[in-house]
Amino acid sequence: MKYKVDFLVIGSGLAGLQFALKASRKGKVLIVTKAGIDEGSTKYAQGGIAAVLSDEDSFQKHIEDTLISGDGLCNRAVVEMVVREAPDKIRELIKMGVEFDKNSRGELDLSREGGHSEHRILHHKDITGQNIEVTLAKRVRENKNIEVWEQTFAIDLLTQHHLGRLVKRWHTDIACYGAYILNLQSCEVDTVLAKITVVATGGVGNLYQTTTNPLVATGDGIAMVYRAKGIIENMEFVQFHPTSLYHPGERPSFLITEALRGFGAVLRTADGKKFMHKYDERGCLAPRDIVARAIDNEMKIRGDDYVYLDATRLDAKELVSRFPNIHNKCLSIGIDMRKDMLPVIPAAHYLCGGVRVDKNSRSSIHRLYAIGETSSTGLHGANRLASNSLLEAVVFADHAAEDALAHLEEYSWQEDIPEWDYEGTSHPEEMILVTQSYKELQMIMSNYVGIVRSNLRLQRALTRLGIIYNETEALYKKSVLSRKLCELRNLINVGYLVIKMAQARHESRGLHYNIDYPEKNEQ
Ligand code: FAD
Ligand code: SIN
Repeated sequence: MKYKVDFLVIGSGLAGLQFALKASRKGKVLIVTKAGIDEGSTKYAQGGIAAVLSDEDSFQKHIEDTLISGDGLCNRAVVEMVVREAPDKIRELIKMGVEFDKNSRGELDLSREGGHSEHRILHHKDITGQNIEVTLAKRVRENKNIEVWEQTFAIDLLTQHHLGRLVKRWHTDIACYGAYILNLQSCEVDTVLAKITVVATGGVGNLYQTTTNPLVATGDGIAMVYRAKGIIENMEFVQFHPTSLYHPGERPSFLITEALRGFGAVLRTADGKKFMHKYDERGCLAPRDIVARAIDNEMKIRGDDYVYLDATRLDAKELVSRFPNIHNKCLSIGIDMRKDMLPVIPAAHYLCGGVRVDKNSRSSIHRLYAIGETSSTGLHGANRLASNSLLEAVVFADHAAEDALAHLEEYSWQEDIPEWDYEGTSHPEEMILVTQSYKELQMIMSNYVGIVRSNLRLQRALTRLGIIYNETEALYKKSVLSRKLCELRNLINVGYLVIKMAQARHESRGLHYNIDYPEKNEQ
């Protein structure tokens, strides 16, 4: 079937929902999302959202902290824009019904995380993301101009290519006319024609064996834009969160928020020794790349499977009241954080790069915006500062919506786009082939393209990936489509981009560390 909408939004995390709410003022919006509306990284965000809201703090300090963390690759103008707009965005979220904790004086309670020189993280206990996601999803459900299709999977963007026209790579005249959308229940593919399309599909954590990201984070938007010949950048900067709960067999890994370290918890090796002071004078609150590499190093030196995060010396009552979600999770596996140290390991957490966009979140493809974790805005540079990501999603979703509304009238639907061609795709795929390749891919990325890289490991990863790529493309061409097969294909595209961009960077900077180029290049 063919459908026509003003705005097609792919993804229903903070970025997608915020855009939809804003754009619905002047147009009809369709949100497609591959699981339930609230499933995505947003729902799992614990620590909170950063903004300058206290007298001790200043825009300048938040800007500097972000630039320092980004290790020379942030776009200063973007950092300034986001930091200065943050307080207003927080007030808007509160107006929409989002709740942030207050202290005993009735003021917003601000916590602190790694790399921040001040307390500036607004939070809702340790379930900030859930509160944001549920509140915005409710607003979307109430909105008559927004339709939501759950369990629907965007397969590919529609461009001139689908009209049989040749499009050269990085061609500046590419335009997006919507997307092919797979209904995961009927297995039929609909053609959604849109005047403006927005990719808000989140991150890529499932490239790795250990990740904090939910199962939906498979880089679909980035892979789609790449296949449509849009510009992708900074993919080598994959952020590993230092502290996910070590609990073998559990996927995704449960996050232990950095705010717990901000609250006073300290890292120790298995024999109880503190070690972070050996790596950075900021100790346990050094930026994430430094803490994750330090943990990785200690585990390798000692042959341990994890290190400990020790909160046992903190006030037990305050601890449980501030971190109830973590406390309950740990109790469920027999760990009482008031008395027991928490076993933790680094886990793939966030992608700093993605679809290159400008200040209004426009991609290099006309009529196509990218927002949230899928985009590369210039805010994070080589390493994202904690709790700057929800902020980025909300700021850029607003900019994108304003820009899109200003240009909507210029576009019409591209009626000539053909419907999905089912020709030759009748074989039921063998699921075992897909799941096996998925595991192989995660093994390759974890072993060779993880926290510490080398030229040899990257080359080995590329060679191994090539085999899975060829096998999967062959399978894709003849199989009945499934979510798993499409996700595998997307992850392979995204893994390729991570490896190639890691190989192209002949230095170590931020989250990218290559033992063959341990120094940072002069800029
Ligand atoms: P998401 O919220 O991930 O939403 C992506 C959406 O796209 C989902 O609805 C998904 O189903 C949909 N989708 C994907 N592919 C397709 C497809 N092919 N077709 C249709 N739909 C698709 N950041 C902070 O700033 N502060 C924090 O405290 C914080 N804590 C975090 C804790 C955890 C455990 C995790 C995983 C991340 C955390 N982050 C935090 C990062 C932050 O949550 C994310 O970067 C942010 O929520 C991303 O929002 P998004 O809207 O871009 O994507
Ligand atoms: C955390 O709570 O530690 C995660 C914060 C983030 O990813 O920004």
